[in-house]
Amino acid sequence: MTDINAYDFLLQAASQYYISALLRYIIYKNTSDWNIDLDVAYLHYTANETIGGVEFQSVPEVENLTLVADMSSNILSRPVDVSQFGVIYAGAQKNLGPAGITIVIVREDLIGHAHPFTPSILNYKLQADNGSMLNTPPAYNWYLLGLVLEWIKEQGGISAIEARNSRKADKLYAAIDAPTFYSNPVDPSVRLRMNVPFLLAKTELEKDFLAQAKWHGLVNLEGHRSVGTACQPL
Ligand SMILES: Cc1ncc(COP(=O)(O)O)c(C=O)c1O
Repeated sequence: MTDINAYDFLLQAASQYYISALLRYIIYKNTSDWNIDLDVAYLHYTANETIGGVEFQSVPEVENLTLVADMSSNILSRPVDVSQFGVIYAGAQKNLGPAGITIVIVREDLIGHAHPFTPSILNYKLQADNGSMLNTPPAYNWYLLGLVLEWIKEQGGISAIEARNSRKADKLYAAIDAPTFYSNPVDPSVRLRMNVPFLLAKTELEKDFLAQAKWHGLVNLEGHRSVGTACQPL
């Protein structure tokens, strides 16, 4: 089984990318231009890159390839056709509940091909055969995740959540894009909607901005530790 060398893959397609100046993360504009080696077991992509502020707005159209997606930071934020994927996985800690539990959705025919050295906790056949309770599960996290799912249903389901997310993100981006105080260099067509990173046009104001934001009850706006200057309100 060969895995795609993601780094080479990114470099190969380098002429068709957007770069988020915030973090130098890359998202592809046009899947038809991707140069993909079809002799791979699967194609993995990250649907939403929180720190750089970029999100795939639709599922990449790649024929004859099994798609595997990390949806940790945008799962349940918009409807997704699960049948387009071989595997979807998502850590709960962004959209589903507390850290410590991960959701994995695996297409049935992909189950049962684990390498013999695969640890049992990552062996989807063993997990499926045991109702995801091969080991004692993190029961409290599981319970809380269930409450979140119930809450989403009560809100009107994923479409209602999507509409709400879009409204919030549109408002926030409109404020950020207004001249002169904030900035967000990410191309609007690939901006994410779950977590909006932004910069101050005058970076020297950052300390004052954060202090005043805190005074107004807006805390933890500092950007991810790997970005430094970006701020990320939810
Ligand atoms: C898509 C995605 N996967 C994985 C992670 C890693 O999550 P954590 O830092 O909670 O382990 C992140 C973090 O932002 C993410 O956005």
